Amino acid sequence: MALLPILHYPDLRLHTKALPVAEVDGRIRALAADMAETMYAAPGIGLAATQVNEHIRLVVIDVSEDKTGLLTFINPQIIEKSGQCEGEEGCLSVPGIYETVQRAERVKVRALNAEGKPFEMEADGLLAVCIQHELDHLEGKVFVQHLSQLKQTRIKARIAKLARESM
Ligand code: NI
Repeated sequence: MALLPILHYPDLRLHTKALPVAEVDGRIRALAADMAETMYAAPGIGLAATQVNEHIRLVVIDVSEDKTGLLTFINPQIIEKSGQCEGEEGCLSVPGIYETVQRAERVKVRALNAEGKPFEMEADGLLAVCIQHELDHLEGKVFVQHLSQLKQTRIKARIAKLARESM
């Protein structure tokens, strides 16, 4: 197991569209395990392969309080969504930035698990938001891209300032 470096916005590699996983083999399982370790260490509640510069459709999520609810989604697809909600989001690739984003309130997702077995899951609340946020990453979309251009420009300026201050 290993901690993986996380790409930081506005790194252009975060805007790569991820490719489907052809086969859930040992390499994919090892990457999923490393991603989970990286997510817990950060700490975060979700991580997409895109964020560790692996452009395949693989996401890990754990929204439990005691880190016992690890979910692995391979080739995930949202097959139903309903309702609307609004909440503050952050992202391990955009440290220090929290902004309100509109999302569907409930989603139904179809994916393969870490063993390569297909499953379907219905989610609401934080898990539903997290699934949508992570699946966006696989499309090359970072959560701040849901905001206005003006806000995105301000966020980039804020990130540049944070980077200067930490040098
Ligand atoms: Ni994120």
